[in-house]
Formats: sequence, C-alpha cells, structure tokens
Amino acid sequence: MKPVPVIELRGVKKHYKLGEVTLKVLKGIDIAIKKGERVGIMGPSGSGKSTLLNMVGALDRPTHGHVLVDGIDISTLNDNELARLRGKKIGFVFQFFYLIPSITALDNVILPMTFSGKKDERRARELLKLVGLEKRMHHKPSQLSGGERQRVAIARALANNPEVLLADEPTGNLDSKSGGEIIKLLFKLNKENDLTLIIVTHDEGICSRMERNIYIKDGEIIRRGGKCIVGGGKDENKVF
Ligand SMILES: Nc1ncnc2c1ncn2[C@@H]1O[C@H](COP(=O)(O)OP(=O)(O)OP(=O)(O)O)[C@@H](O)[C@H]1O
Ligand SMILES: [Mg+2]
Repeated sequence: MKPVPVIELRGVKKHYKLGEVTLKVLKGIDIAIKKGERVGIMGPSGSGKSTLLNMVGALDRPTHGHVLVDGIDISTLNDNELARLRGKKIGFVFQFFYLIPSITALDNVILPMTFSGKKDERRARELLKLVGLEKRMHHKPSQLSGGERQRVAIARALANNPEVLLADEPTGNLDSKSGGEIIKLLFKLNKENDLTLIIVTHDEGICSRMERNIYIKDGEIIRRGGKCIVGGGKDENKVF
C-alpha cells in the first residue's frame, strides 16, 4: 500500500480581501510530500512562497481546496484541534524569526513545549547546544547576532520533535559560513531522524541538495524538479 503523504495540498487557493479588492495569491496548488523527503520551494519575491509555506504547515486555512496532514483533512478540525496537530507534527522557522524579545534564548525554545504540555528544559538546552549556542542560552534576542537568532529559531522549531520542519529562507540573513552550518544541521536531522524538510530558499547550496524543487510564479507551480535554478543564472529567465 502506498504510504499516506505527510502533507498534501489539493487544489489550494488562497485569496486575501483588501477592501473591495480580492488578491488571488495562490491559484490552485497540488503537492504531496512524503515523510523524510527534502523539498525546496523557489520563486521570485511576491510569488507566494511564504503563503504556500503557511498552507503546507496548516498555519492558515485555504480559501478553496484541501490541506491534509497525515491524511487528515484540516477542514474537519476546529482551531484547537488544528493547533494541537500542528504543535505535535510541524516545526516552523519563519522568515523573520518571530522570537519573543523579552525572554532568553532558552525560554524561547521552552515556550512551544509549554503549549504542548511537555516542558523539558534539558531538551531545550540540548537543542541549543546542537545549534552551537550553549554559551548564549541566557541572552535575549536583542543580545544575539542575526545568525544566532536564526539558530534559536531552528532550536525552537525542533522543540516538540516534529516530523516536518518548514523553513522560510533559513539562510537568507546569514553569511556563507553560518549559512553552511545551518544547512549541515538541517540535512543531518533529515538523514538521521527522517525529518521531512520543506525549505523556501534562493540558496544554491540548499537547492542542489533537495530531492526535488518546486518553482512558483504568480501563485502557480510553473515547474517541478529538474536542474536547480537560482537567481542570476542564464536559465533563470526561461523559468521566471
Ligand atoms: N495577509 C496578507 N494580506 C494581503 N496580502 C498578502 C498577505 N500576505 C501576503 N500577501 C501578498 O501576497 C503576495 C505573496 O506574498 P508572500 O509573502 O507569499 O511572497 P513570497 O514569495 O514569500 O515573497 P518574498 O520572497 O519576498 O518573501 C504578495 O504580493 C503579498 O503582498
Ligand atoms: Mg516570503
């Protein structure tokens, strides 16, 4: 029997209403992602990548179509049930981190555990060690560099031992050395823990190591798989 995809989108559309105007940001997306897969999402600014990631992570509900997490259609769940499912299965690394500024790195990592009822300070410390921040645990976000904040966000995303990690440009704010370390860490978790990785990126180092890449433009998938194409390449115009 074919395994159920860990995440599946069927005909997903997302519209935003701004006064009289309806903005059609996603125009019918179909994707099925298997457990342990590494999938890249690429596309120009404003094409709908972050919106798509929000749908994939069931952070928000589609305007039309269906999102299934482990075969469960999220439209059958109320908001509390959905939050519980998400908290258990999915970790997010947001484009703009969204760390809580008034608490330490350690407390930022502990926070999602509190929501899921399994507060484990030892695990939070281990995760911060894993991302190389054992000496920065008691710093608040404003006392950390951009790369260090990004690493706290990754440790936080892993707090509840998710099956799926979604990351929105996880190396976008980092120099190539810190970016390389983050990539190494994510791929290690994918290999050793069968962690499903879904990453929005413009980074060739990430793109070339994904199992497949999905290219979106104006809210539609315009290409699946094939050679890795990132900004600046001469092939780019053919795609975007
Ligand atoms: N909550 C919202 N309300 C209204 N419009 C939105 C909302 N969120 C996103 N949009 C619009 O939808 C489009 C896609 O936004 P999105 O953030 O998904 O793009 P992106 O591909 O992630 O871009 P970037 O590479 O710059 O991060 C943009 O034009 C944006 O202005
Ligand atoms: Mg974005």
